[in-house]
Amino acid sequence: MIKFVYQNKPKGTGDAVLKCQKYIKNKYFLMLLPDDLIIRNNCSKEMIRLQKKTNGSIIATKRVERKTVSRWGILSVKNKKKRYFQIEDVIEKPSIKKAPSNFAIIGRYILTSKIFGEIKKLKPGQGGEIHITDAIRSLIKKGNKFYGNIFMGKYLDCGTLSGYINSGIQISKRK
Ligand code: G1P
Repeated sequence: MIKFVYQNKPKGTGDAVLKCQKYIKNKYFLMLLPDDLIIRNNCSKEMIRLQKKTNGSIIATKRVERKTVSRWGILSVKNKKKRYFQIEDVIEKPSIKKAPSNFAIIGRYILTSKIFGEIKKLKPGQGGEIHITDAIRSLIKKGNKFYGNIFMGKYLDCGTLSGYINSGIQISKRK
């Protein structure tokens, strides 16, 4: 069953998630941003596996070109293993200078329901929006564990016009 909620004003990802609070009954929930496509391997399944292993919150991540870091939330990396690492900090759309790595947040998250309390405390951040990234940051600072899942699948970036067109072509080639 699919339930819809509406965000009447584009006040940011944090504000959008908050609108779903009454439907979230479990300790953890999966959040997917529809403009980030991942093909070939099921990213959500990988993330659920890592959530069970670590008992923390999980964010899907891939390295992006350094010169593009200001388009993403960027992760600060601790104890990197082959396919995952602990997240020490997150910063929303940093300049190249301020980016702690080139591991970008790709739109798949497994979040603790504690996130709702943090969103409610936020003031508008970057670009005047309520960012989920800032709520995640507060939870990390309070000692909640977050892990970056370096996913296996192919990421199709729909965030630029050429990326969007290319994604359409790649999807149309699939059987
Ligand atoms: C959102 C997040 C950002 C993330 C991106 C992935 O940004 O705020 O941290 O890297 O999705 O697509 P938006 O695309 O809404 O600007």
